Amino acid sequence: MKCKSLLLGLALLAAACNQTPRSNENIPVYLDDNQPIEARVEDAFQRMTLEEKIAMVHAQSKFSSPGVPSLGIPEIWCTDGPHGIRAEVLWDEWDQAGWTNDSITAFPALSGLAATWDRDLSRLYGKSIGEEARYRNKTVLLGPGVNIYRFPLNGRNFEYMGEDPYLASEMVVPYVEGVQSNGVAVCVKHYALNNSEVNRHVANTIVDDRTLYEIYLPAFKAAVQKGHAWSIMAAYNLYNNEHLCSNEVLLDKVLRGEWGFDGVVISDWGGVHNTLQTARHGVDLEYGSWTDGLTMGKTNAYDSYFLAAPYREAIAKGEIGTEELDARVKRLLRLIFRTSMDRTRPFGSQTSPEHYAAARKIGSESIVLLKNDNALLPMAGKPGKILVVGENAVKMMTVGGGSSSLKAKLEVSPLDGIKARYPESTVVWERGYVGDVGGEYNGVSTGQDLRESRSAATLIADAVKAAKDADYVIFIGGLNKAEKQDSESLDRVQYDLPYNQDAVIEALAEATDKLIVVNISGNAVAMPWVDKVPAIVQDWYLGTQAGHSLADVLSGDVNPSGHLPFTFPVSYADNPVQTDKQYPGILRDGTIDGMPVLDMEYTEGIYVGYRWYDLKGGVLFPFGHGLSYTTFEFGEPQLSKKMMKEGSTVTVTVAVKNTGNVAGAEVVQLYIADPEASVDRPLKELKGFAKVYLEPGQTADVSFTIDKDALSFFDAAKHAWTAEKGLFKALVAASAQDIRGSVEFELL
Ligand code: BGC
Repeated sequence: MKCKSLLLGLALLAAACNQTPRSNENIPVYLDDNQPIEARVEDAFQRMTLEEKIAMVHAQSKFSSPGVPSLGIPEIWCTDGPHGIRAEVLWDEWDQAGWTNDSITAFPALSGLAATWDRDLSRLYGKSIGEEARYRNKTVLLGPGVNIYRFPLNGRNFEYMGEDPYLASEMVVPYVEGVQSNGVAVCVKHYALNNSEVNRHVANTIVDDRTLYEIYLPAFKAAVQKGHAWSIMAAYNLYNNEHLCSNEVLLDKVLRGEWGFDGVVISDWGGVHNTLQTARHGVDLEYGSWTDGLTMGKTNAYDSYFLAAPYREAIAKGEIGTEELDARVKRLLRLIFRTSMDRTRPFGSQTSPEHYAAARKIGSESIVLLKNDNALLPMAGKPGKILVVGENAVKMMTVGGGSSSLKAKLEVSPLDGIKARYPESTVVWERGYVGDVGGEYNGVSTGQDLRESRSAATLIADAVKAAKDADYVIFIGGLNKAEKQDSESLDRVQYDLPYNQDAVIEALAEATDKLIVVNISGNAVAMPWVDKVPAIVQDWYLGTQAGHSLADVLSGDVNPSGHLPFTFPVSYADNPVQTDKQYPGILRDGTIDGMPVLDMEYTEGIYVGYRWYDLKGGVLFPFGHGLSYTTFEFGEPQLSKKMMKEGSTVTVTVAVKNTGNVAGAEVVQLYIADPEASVDRPLKELKGFAKVYLEPGQTADVSFTIDKDALSFFDAAKHAWTAEKGLFKALVAASAQDIRGSVEFELL
């Protein structure tokens, strides 16, 4: 009987299902998952009014813009970026909204990610941060940043991926893919030529085409063409006398034209300054133009945006047609279909154990061992007393620095990381110097009280006294996220370490021969004491797991394998940017968009980073440098053939052996030299790298395929990449100044 009724039930269910088949015929095309995105975009677009289209192209709050409510197409929600998901802010304000469920994982700063030279870790980073963005229901993550490190004072270098276009290009692509695998769009920033912060709204970059294409555009191009980035952020500054947000050359001609970008260009917050030029050539979506949300009385304050009422009026007056608006709206619809209307996207997660593990691993793999005389590191065994000196050992670094500031659920300080790793040692902390005692950004507070009453001399005396009987003295200093340090909107004002730190280090070096200096920064700094300190470590803003990542490396639990993504010059006078013309620029007569203009000329041209130092010298630690607790031997590089025909490739192979006693990873670098070029070319340029992990005694072959792209320079006259026939050299190296072997071949 029971069986019969079950069968009957199943039959009824089947019948019911048959009666209401889920026929796609009844679903509008734009809602039908089975239709291609372009058909859905077209269908949705046809159903929209002009009002709805205008509404879509500008913000409705600090970080959101409308979808199409009448069609059930959701809003776009953006979030900073690029090191973690920003705390929720008030509707119209920068201040945090005070939610209690928006504390996140702080991932390492992108300068650190670049220092891993590990594409897989970049993918893991992107996937993990994308999951956090997805969990918080964000459509667009405002990052990653790939502006090239032009000089060591840029306040935002910590958010970028170093001085070399190839390294930045290779590292950005997996990040983009990782984020977007969550159905969350990246927004690659800040396109383009935003290489310093001071005067960022009024600086007009003057740069020749070759430099533009060879140095400043490749990472953006890779993110677009190889990573298939779904959005990009137009920067604040000007190029070719136009603000980037309405820049015909860089947006229309290069990005949408030459690169075929089909995604959305989002303005940097407050970067739009006019209606008509922006409508013709500029961004698709305007954010952050100033409004307090109240000034327009009963009407919507956001209606005063350049791409709101003024745009509508310009269309009504016939000053501009609707063709550009239509294209804009289609790009925005495409973004929404790729993200929030993709019903197959995963759900995301926040502060998961996996994210903490990813942050820790990326962090420990990013740390660079700069110097290690007498194998002072690692601190093996159970040291009796470890003295830690310096503010950065305790200061929370996830708060501050500008828009990348975070509300981290957890931040393990270096001191706590060291204490956790050495539970049986006496770990003592001395302040050493007073740096920045602030600890708040947009209402997010560290809760730390770093005020100090002792004088500078007493702080040093106290540290020196404590150093006398310590087995190890670890000085942890560097920069921080305060104004004029590693922070947005202003640049650093000196290359030297701030806050009297040099004096503290010198005094400690006198007191002990067991001194380890850990520099935490996103920029190179001067190290006048370099010869007096046996061990130096370059650390980064590593976020939630900062202290554990550092302790992993100091203890040798992780063998350091980070390599510098930028050069450390000896002094500021050694770096390529020297004149006022180069930075901060020269004020000119007249205005653009009603604003003054400073012309900033990149007269150093393509000679940025090691391309410059290779010719001029003055290097403290070279690009690509990084030591290990083991040693690696490179064999003679071998070529697959001596002649490279047009359209073919050659392969260089080198055997790398771990000749020490512990397992470790080496970053094998390939540079190409073009000694017979008809134009000025750098002595060498990075065109390949591989991170190879080896057990003690193990050998592995590392191969690089060299194609025409690796041999080419940008011929501005022809507006084309050109590889000239003749001799080339392939250099296999462990840093820009540690060439281990070279081979020659000819391009026929
Ligand atoms: C920054 C961007 C950031 C935006 C939103 C701007 O000031 O330049 O990088 O994404 O603000 O916070």
